[in-house]
Amino acid sequence: MDGLDTLKAKYLTAVADATDESALEEVRVAALGKKGEISAMMATLGKMDPEARKAAGASLNALKDEIDAALRARKAGLADAALDERLRTEWLDVTLPGRPRRMGTIHPVSQVMEELTAIFADMGFAVAEGPQVESDWYNFDALNIPPEHPARQEHDTFFMHRAPGDNRPPHVLRTHTSPVQIRAMMDKGAPIRVIAPGRVYRMDMDQTHTPMFHQVEGLAIDRDISMANLKWCLEEFCRAFFEVPSVELRFRASHFPFTEPSAEVDIRCSWEGGQLKIGQGDKWMEILGSGMVHPKVLTAAGVNPDEWQGFAFGMGIDRIAMLKYGIPDLRAFFESDLRWLRHYGFAALDMPDLPGGLSR
Ligand code: DAH
Repeated sequence: MDGLDTLKAKYLTAVADATDESALEEVRVAALGKKGEISAMMATLGKMDPEARKAAGASLNALKDEIDAALRARKAGLADAALDERLRTEWLDVTLPGRPRRMGTIHPVSQVMEELTAIFADMGFAVAEGPQVESDWYNFDALNIPPEHPARQEHDTFFMHRAPGDNRPPHVLRTHTSPVQIRAMMDKGAPIRVIAPGRVYRMDMDQTHTPMFHQVEGLAIDRDISMANLKWCLEEFCRAFFEVPSVELRFRASHFPFTEPSAEVDIRCSWEGGQLKIGQGDKWMEILGSGMVHPKVLTAAGVNPDEWQGFAFGMGIDRIAMLKYGIPDLRAFFESDLRWLRHYGFAALDMPDLPGGLSR
C-alpha cells in the first residue's frame, strides 16, 4: 500500500508534538479510533484479493502497532514530565522549623522561680510554701525577733486591719520568706531540705524597691550541716543559674536575728561597658543573706538544737532576675505593660530544666 510511510511519519510526528494527554488522545482517535484514518484503511482490506490483502493487512497492522506503541510511550513520558513538574513546584522542606506561636509570655520572675526550683531540686531541695498574710509570731517571734527588737521597725511592715475591740496582735503581710522555715520544720521536722520562693511585702518604693517583691528562702537541717555546705550549695546554684563556668562568692560577716553566725554573700562581677558579667572583674555585688540557723529558731519550730543544725539563706528573686536578664528598672516588673512582657518574657511551653538548658 502506498502512502503508509507518509501516514506513519504524519502520526509519529503528531504523537511527538502532543504536549498533553488530551492532544495525545486526539491523535489516537484520528489514527486508531473507530472512524480513524488507519481504521478506515483496515475496512478497505475486505475488498482486496487475498494476496494483496495479506500484504496490506500485515503492513497496516505493523503501522497500527507502531503508532500504538508511540502513543503509549508518549503518554508515559507526559505523565513522568507532569509528575516531575509537580515535584518541582509543590516542593516543601519538611525539615524547616515550625512557626512559633506565642501563647502569652512567662514573666521573668516566674521564669527565674522555675529555674531556681530546677537547680535546687537537683540538689535535693523540695519546695515549701506559706501564707502571704502571716501571723506576727511566724514572721517575727519564732525567728528570734521579739516585739522590742529593732529589726521589727526595719522591716517596714504592712499590718492587717483588726475589727475594733479585737486586741489580738495584728496579722502582717509577710516581710520575708523566712517564716516558711518555721512552718516547714513544724510540719516535717528534721532532717529537712527545702526552698520557699514567694511574694513578700514591705512599705518601700523607689527604682530598686517595690512594696511587693519576691524572695526565695533556703533551709537545710541535718545532724552535721555546716557553713561549708552552705558555701558549696550557693556556689553551685550561682554557677548553674548565671550559666557561667565558674563563680566566686565572698562571705561577709553580718547579723540576722535568726542565724548565728550570719553572713551576707557577694558575687564577683564586672560592669565593664555598662554590661554585667558574673564570675569575672573586680566588683562585688550583694545577692543574699545567710547563716547557721539560730538554736532559738530551731526550738521555736520544735526541732531539738542539740541534735540538729543547718543553714538558711534568703535571696531576692527580682534582683537576680534583673542581673541575669539585664533588666534595668525593678518597677517595670509589676506594671503589666504588654510591650515590656513581650520583650522580657519567655515562651510559655519552654520549661527550664538542667539537662535541657535553663534559659533557651
Ligand atoms: N529574711 C532576710 C531578709 O529578708 C533574708 C535572710 C537572711 C534569710 C539570712 C535567711 C538568712 O534565711 O539566713 O532580709
